[in-house]
Amino acid sequence: YGDGNQKIDYVFKVVLIGDSAVGKSQILARFARNEFSLDSKATIGVEFQTRTLVIEHKSVKAQIWDTAGQERYRAVTSAYYRGAVGAMLVYDITKRQSFDHIPRWLEELRGHADKNIVIILIGNKSDLEDQRAVPTEDAKEFAQKEGLFFLETSALEATNVETAFTTVLTEIF
Ligand code: GTP
Ligand code: MG
Repeated sequence: YGDGNQKIDYVFKVVLIGDSAVGKSQILARFARNEFSLDSKATIGVEFQTRTLVIEHKSVKAQIWDTAGQERYRAVTSAYYRGAVGAMLVYDITKRQSFDHIPRWLEELRGHADKNIVIILIGNKSDLEDQRAVPTEDAKEFAQKEGLFFLETSALEATNVETAFTTVLTEIF
């Protein structure tokens, strides 16, 4: 049972990964508490937050794990991925390097996670269109080739954040 004596039918662990400063923690803050902060601090170690939502008439408790993009602050990799049924692979649409590193993150993910894990590629900061460095088509093509879902989001404007999580959670289901 979750908060308010709500019956929980499923608990799904979803992990966030990607370079530092792409907005992983703010995507989580937006999803879990509908909050956003412009002076977000780099994550150290691992944090997680939960939110219970109803999907196909079942109550699903999403347990979202967030870790540091910076190598020196990262937690033990195998423990982070253990039991995860969904993953969000995040880059920043204004930082080409964060997109170029996606294959590395995907490799780590595939090396440690369950082979049936549901993965979504996320291009965050879509509100900064005037600073875009990664064309939507490039990411779409990559996602298609790798069999990933794909969405562009803005944690700041709350665009597609809800959809990104429900896409993953519904597919796990
Ligand atoms: P690490 O914890 O170091 O791995 O970084 P992170 O990926 O968790 O990044 P974080 O969420 O801390 O966000 C980094 C910076 O980007 C902060 O200044 C955020 O306010 C900003 N940011 C996050 N999401 C968005 C967004 O959608 N739009 C804009 N404009 N800024 C964002
Ligand atoms: Mg963070």
